[in-house]
Amino acid sequence: MNNNKKISLGLFGFGCVGQGLYDVLNMSQGLQATIEKICVRDKTKKRRLDANRFTFDKNDILKRKDLDVVVELISDTNEALEIVSTAMKNGVNVVSASKEMLAKNFFQLFKLQQENNVSLIYEGSVGGSIPILRNLEEYYDNELLQSVRAILNGTCNYILTRMELEGKDYGEILKDAQSNSFAEADPWLDVSGCDAKYKILLIAVHAFGLLLKPEQILNLGIQNICYEDILYAKEKGLRIKLLTRAEKLGDKYRVYVMPHFIDKSSELFNVLYEYNAVEVEGAFSCKQLFTGKGAGSHPTGSAVLSDISALTYNYRYGYKKLKKLLNGNSTAPDSAKLLDSDFNIKVYVRFSNKSEIEKLEIVSIEEEYKSAKNNYIIAIVKFKSLFHFCGNHDSKVFICEV
Ligand SMILES: NC(=O)c1ccc[n+]([C@@H]2O[C@H](COP(=O)([O-])OP(=O)(O)OC[C@H]3O[C@@H](n4cnc5c(N)ncnc54)[C@H](OP(=O)(O)O)[C@@H]3O)[C@@H](O)[C@H]2O)c1
Repeated sequence: MNNNKKISLGLFGFGCVGQGLYDVLNMSQGLQATIEKICVRDKTKKRRLDANRFTFDKNDILKRKDLDVVVELISDTNEALEIVSTAMKNGVNVVSASKEMLAKNFFQLFKLQQENNVSLIYEGSVGGSIPILRNLEEYYDNELLQSVRAILNGTCNYILTRMELEGKDYGEILKDAQSNSFAEADPWLDVSGCDAKYKILLIAVHAFGLLLKPEQILNLGIQNICYEDILYAKEKGLRIKLLTRAEKLGDKYRVYVMPHFIDKSSELFNVLYEYNAVEVEGAFSCKQLFTGKGAGSHPTGSAVLSDISALTYNYRYGYKKLKKLLNGNSTAPDSAKLLDSDFNIKVYVRFSNKSEIEKLEIVSIEEEYKSAKNNYIIAIVKFKSLFHFCGNHDSKVFICEV
């Protein structure tokens, strides 16, 4: 594609991000791009554009021969995979923001890019407006990256900030966040740390070349937090943040999502409300912080626009680090063996009944508090044993790294 050419787009989805893209594209001065057709699902929904701009049949876009880019921004993970795969098999470049679809099917999508000589880029899927994936891939291609620590879920950060600043409990703030559209009607994906896990999986590909499966990554969320936990942190001058981490220690990697106590000396301490932040640490560049709105219509739309623009100069991810690990093999490497899950970790654990934590392998207890309602311990535990609490809907235990 050449930069001066007018690009024709086929757009899937006209919800939060799709409409955001439409707006930023209309206001963009440089990029000459036209949305030729928009595919959506609900025939009864009122739309802000003429009905002739829309279709309900994906083939009205996928079978067209005159499109330069398919932009996939839908909320249906299985259908998103179908659309993105078909477009690539048809030789069309794709931009997507569907982190769950990308994370769950990464290797398949990577291979489709190679086999069909097309580009699939997805900056909007991680950190909303924060330009991180292309930076990890290109800018830090030769840097000895040591760690990426990030706040990647705006909903969680918004809830945690308001709980602390307003002195309110989780349920009350969550309800309010839902009525203000800062949280989904079903917030599980966000508050359980699943959404952040999909994002750190994509970061791990571009930062370290790791190819992981979502189930190999521990995610502990904030769904069980209460104001007492916030207060505990506050009294010690700390804040609780849901952190996603991917770091290299020797020839092993640690990749996980967990609430953390953060102190004032960290730049992440002051990342508040719906803001996201990514702290990248390299051997030579030292620590660098990227921060910005991690979700939302226009911020994510702007990342999608940037991807479309990158395609005008034939950009594609080089996957240099991943290809090095693949070492010419066409089968998915087992990056799980590169994961370190056999280490001890210091955590704050709040529970009401000892039976709730019997699966936790405790090495030693540093502090213990008991009350009629709640108990907590500060303990060194085996990281592996935390997997028992990962995705466990029944557990009421709150765990936070100290
Ligand atoms: N919201 C954010 O801030 C954000 C940020 C980063 C990434 N993302 C990701 O971007 C994607 C879109 O998110 P969103 O927030 O824009 O979702 P949304 O507001 O719920 O909109 C979803 C859109 O997808 C369409 N759709 C759903 N299933 C479809 C199907 N089978 N065929 C065609 N269209 C279909 C819907 O059609 P109807 O209009 O007919 O209902 C709607 O227009 C998701 O993967 C999300 O994880 C979102």
